[in-house]
Amino acid sequence: MAKKNIVIIGSQWGDEGKGKLTDYLADKVDFVVRFQGGNNAGHTIVVNGKRFAFHLIPSGVVRGKTVVIGNGVVIDPRVLLHEIKSLEEAGIKVNLKISTKAHVIMPYHVLLDGVEDAAKGKYAAGTTKRGIGPAYSDKHMRAGIRMMDIVQPDVLREKLGYIVPIKQKILEIYGVTDRLDENAIHEEYVAFGSQLRQYLADTEYLLNEALDSGKNALFEGAQGSMLCVDHGLYPHGTSSNCVAQGASTGTGVPMKKMDYVLGIVKAYTSRVGAGPVPTELLDATGDQIREQGHEYGTTTGRPRRVGWFDAVTVKYTSMINGFDGICITLLDALEGIDPLMICTAYEHGNERMTRWIADTNFMKDCKPVYEQMRGWPKRTREEWRTTASKGYGTLPPEMRAYVERIQSIIGVPATFLSVGPGRDETIVLKDVFKD
Ligand code: IMP
Repeated sequence: MAKKNIVIIGSQWGDEGKGKLTDYLADKVDFVVRFQGGNNAGHTIVVNGKRFAFHLIPSGVVRGKTVVIGNGVVIDPRVLLHEIKSLEEAGIKVNLKISTKAHVIMPYHVLLDGVEDAAKGKYAAGTTKRGIGPAYSDKHMRAGIRMMDIVQPDVLREKLGYIVPIKQKILEIYGVTDRLDENAIHEEYVAFGSQLRQYLADTEYLLNEALDSGKNALFEGAQGSMLCVDHGLYPHGTSSNCVAQGASTGTGVPMKKMDYVLGIVKAYTSRVGAGPVPTELLDATGDQIREQGHEYGTTTGRPRRVGWFDAVTVKYTSMINGFDGICITLLDALEGIDPLMICTAYEHGNERMTRWIADTNFMKDCKPVYEQMRGWPKRTREEWRTTASKGYGTLPPEMRAYVERIQSIIGVPATFLSVGPGRDETIVLKDVFKD
C-alpha cells in the first residue's frame, strides 16, 4: 500500500495548534514541507529540554526528516540562517532543501511592511511586519528576487539596479527616511546566497520523484484559512494561499497526490491582528480563555483576540479545503467555563444567514447567533494526560457533547482531539495513514 501524503491546514485565523499535529505526524513521513507564508508563522518545539522557536524551517527537522521549503514560501535569509545555526549548535542535523524558485524577503520589504499597512487605516491587517506582504507583492508584480538570484551575483546586481531606486522613492512617499544602499544589500545577499547554496534544489522534481517512488510527505500549512489572500477576510489577512490548494501551487506537487486534508480546528476562536471577528469576547470570559489557552503570539508576543467557536466560519473553510478529518485542539483551555457558546449563524439587520460573506464592511455588522452548550470542570495537567491515555470515553461527557456537536455542524469526523500541548495529550480517533 502506498504511503499517504497529508496536508495540515488551519481552519480559522491561524494558531490552531498545527505545529503540534505536524510534530505528532512527522514521525510517519519522509518529508515535511512548507508551501506558503514565511517567518510570519511561528511555533515552538521542545527537544531534550531545549526550546526551539521555528518561523521558517518545517518542524520535522527535529525528527531528522528531510524538510523542504517550497516555491510558495517567502524567505528571509537572515532568519533562516539563524534557525539553521541554532539547530546545528544543538546537535540537530539539518536536512533541508529549498526551492530555487522561492522568493526572498529583502530589507526594503521589511521597511515597507508596517507603513504600507498603517496607511490602509481601517483596512489594515495589523501585519507581523516581517515583509511578507511586500515580498508577495513583488512576486506577483514579477519584480521579486528569488533564491536562484542570490547565488548569481550578476543577476542580483541587475535586478537590484532597477528595483532599489523605485523602492527608495516609495519609502519616501511613506515618509521613511532610511537610505537603501544598493551595494551593501548586494554584498549582504550574495553572502547569504553562498551560505544557502548548499540547500538549494529543484524541489518540485525532488518531491514528485520521491513520492512516485513510494516515499511520503506532510505538507505543513502556516497561518489559517481565514487569513488566505483568496478565501479569507480580505484585506485583513496575509498574502499567501493558506488553504490546502496552496500545497500544490506552493510545491509543484499535484493535488491528486495529496491523500488526506486534515483541518486543525481550535475549540474556540483566536485572532492576531485587525478585522472583524464576529464571536469576539471582550469580557472576563475572553480574558479567562486567553489565559488558559496562553493566547499570546509566538512571532510577535501580541495578546490574541479570542471568542466563542464560530461554526459558520469553520464550515465555510471546511468546504473550501475539503477537509477529510478535523483535529479539535485546545479543548482543555475551555475548562471551568460554563456555559459555552457555539455560533451557528449570523444576523445582519433582519436577515439570518449561515453563510460566510467575504466582505469586511458586511461582516463587521454581523451579530452571532449562539447555541448554548454545557462546559466541563477543570482538571490538572496530570489528569488531562491520564484522560488522553485512556481515550475518548474518559473525556468529560460535556466535552464529548461539545466535540460531537462541532462534528455534526461541520459535517466532518474528528480524527484527533488535543487536550494539552504535549504529544501525550492527544487522542487519536482514526489513523490518518490508514484507509
Ligand atoms: P502578515 O502575514 O505579516 O502580512 O500579516 C497579515 C495578517 O495575518 C495579520 O493580521 C497577522 O496578524 C496575521 N498573521 C500572519 N501570520 C500569522 C500566524 O502565523 N498566525 C496568526 N496570524 C497571523
